[in-house]
Amino acid sequence: MIPRKKIIAGNWKMNKTQAEARVLVEDLLRDIGRFDDAEIVLCPPFTALAAVSELLNTVSNIRLGAQNMHEAASGAYTGEISAAMLKELYVRYVIIGHSERRQYFHEDNATVNRKTKAALAAELRPIVCIGETLPEREANKWKNVLQTQLIEGFAGFGEKELADIIIAYEPVWAIGTGKTASPAQAEEAHQFIRKIVGDKFGATAAEKIRIQYGGSVKPENAKELLSKPDIDGALVGGASLDSRGFTAIIKNACSE
Ligand code: PGA
Repeated sequence: MIPRKKIIAGNWKMNKTQAEARVLVEDLLRDIGRFDDAEIVLCPPFTALAAVSELLNTVSNIRLGAQNMHEAASGAYTGEISAAMLKELYVRYVIIGHSERRQYFHEDNATVNRKTKAALAAELRPIVCIGETLPEREANKWKNVLQTQLIEGFAGFGEKELADIIIAYEPVWAIGTGKTASPAQAEEAHQFIRKIVGDKFGATAAEKIRIQYGGSVKPENAKELLSKPDIDGALVGGASLDSRGFTAIIKNACSE
């Protein structure tokens, strides 16, 4: 069994000005700047990336991620940001296909596929989000939904591509709602995702791939969720906006 290092990412969404971001990052650097039992990633809004990058570039184990990118290298795409623009700021990870992008910006599995391909080509590590809605869970269709998202989102990929991808399982009904999937529900979904990856990309890909859980992760529930064998980290929204909460999630859930 290949050990998988836990990966905790903070998705700040449309929160934090540059000035606010600096305050938060300075606190995080003090509290977890040298933490090494997990990979830690911060995903600020585009406008705060440069400021956060400058602070992280000192001596820290905290890495930088973006919340989105466009698949084209450059061109007439008003309002969009390319992989090269992110790379210049020392961004290493990029969230792709977050449910809010799917819901409000009409991104579908084909978009996710193109963006993931472009991110990999630029040597960014994609954090690809999948997850079912409440009606899909209630109709017991969640397995079909996850399977389709994986097959279409990773169409044309092989074991090599999978090695650089992180999957985030985020049941839409648990995002920002305070409703968390129970650790057993989350583990069941993660096991299913790993099985699909295994069927399609082979046993090694399935064993290596890290699958984060996201959806109302808090200091109180992180430890139990992350103690499950197939839960390899967390994608944290609301609770990552406060240094004490985010630090507690990381220390509670990842200290060896
Ligand atoms: P939440 O968001 O932790 O606020 O539920 C998670 C996410 O959307 O990535």
